[in-house]
Amino acid sequence: MEDTKTYRLKTGKSAKLFEKSKKYHVDGVHHNIRFFEPYPFVTKSANRKFLIDVDSNKYVDYWMGHWSLILGHTQKKIASQIKKQLSYDWMHGTLNKNSIELSEKISKAVPVAEKIRYASTGTEATMYAVRLARTITKRKTIAKIDGGWHGYTTDLLKTVNWPFHKSESSGLTDEKHIISLPYNNLEKSVKILKMKKNDLAAVIIEPVLGGGGCIPATKEYLLCIQEFCHKNNILFILDEIVTGFRFRFGCLYNTMKLDPDLVTLGKIVGGGFPIGVICGKNELMKYASTSIFSKTERAYIGGGTFSANPLTMMAGSTMLTIIKNKGDLLYNKLNSFGIETRKMLDKKFGGSVITTGIGSLFLTHFLNDSIYKINNATDAAKCNTKKLHDYHFHMIANDGIFFLPGKLGAYSDAHTKSDINAIAKSTDKFLTKFKK
Ligand SMILES: Cc1ncc(COP(=O)(O)O)c(C=O)c1O
Repeated sequence: MEDTKTYRLKTGKSAKLFEKSKKYHVDGVHHNIRFFEPYPFVTKSANRKFLIDVDSNKYVDYWMGHWSLILGHTQKKIASQIKKQLSYDWMHGTLNKNSIELSEKISKAVPVAEKIRYASTGTEATMYAVRLARTITKRKTIAKIDGGWHGYTTDLLKTVNWPFHKSESSGLTDEKHIISLPYNNLEKSVKILKMKKNDLAAVIIEPVLGGGGCIPATKEYLLCIQEFCHKNNILFILDEIVTGFRFRFGCLYNTMKLDPDLVTLGKIVGGGFPIGVICGKNELMKYASTSIFSKTERAYIGGGTFSANPLTMMAGSTMLTIIKNKGDLLYNKLNSFGIETRKMLDKKFGGSVITTGIGSLFLTHFLNDSIYKINNATDAAKCNTKKLHDYHFHMIANDGIFFLPGKLGAYSDAHTKSDINAIAKSTDKFLTKFKK
């Protein structure tokens, strides 16, 4: 209550604008997760690590454009390259050089990316990956993870939010072709897979469950699921839309000796512009080729009016060049910030939370009596999620620290060590409030 009052006092212009937004937009927003009580502030601008709202409040941002901005907002070099591109043009609808440059960089860093197709969102990338898998295997069913989030593609819109047995949306007609596995539970997962193996086209997994609670998969889990897939001619798809280029220059899978058939990328590789990427080996991606297969044999993948547009391609390519040049310096910094933050938070809350994550990603789970570990999205959902929202909102209202309430935080290169201290101080205040 107190925090809501503080927030309302600071965000009068946002409140007014949000009322207007509600008049034109469903629930006032364009993505359900962007709403939080009592109303989301309206952003005026962003700069480096800050979001600035229309009331001129400044927030240190941990949402960072859905975690796409690993270098922070308005990175200078990306801005100048985009300005340069704009001075030429911004939309061709034809093949452009920038896309070849970006693909060359991705392909070198992500060995599975022998062939690439671009779309404008991660949702499309996973949708196309599913379609390609069904074409190659001539099977229909896709296995995903309880709590796995791959965008709003109809093909994967099941078991996203707990309780997982409820449908995610009205208007879905083909949920029977999606089955779901308990993350990090190998025995149960393999049992489910065995029952469906003859109709399974693919298994799709995020190596770190993002929206589902910032929970890394164990290496053993991923390796064994992959082995099952390969033995049974099922495609093993890794969705690295969050994890690609987040912890190292390349994907997370390379560090686990995994050999996925297809990988989807997005977010970071678009340099802050709209992107989705389907990457795969030649032998599989050829099933999309119009020169090899007839219309009835091939899969339509990639594309859309704005796919591979010169601005996105320029931003993504510049992003990867900067990240590559910064190299270990960048990743060591971000990964160490994450480690320090997770340790600090767990210590401060003294056993009442578990802060999950890996590298620069972190999320604090408030434990309930029945939950003492966070291995999967069910554990995360059974935690005290209301308290997590209160905690994040406390930081927004009192200390100008922005986590999208309930969502994991991500460090960017624009953050500094002082930001860890700021989170620590705000957390202390939150704890004092609760002790009162
Ligand atoms: C793992 C994962 N896959 C796919 C998507 C969908 O990407 P987009 O929002 O660009 O459609 C997301 C978005 O957050 C994601 O986290």
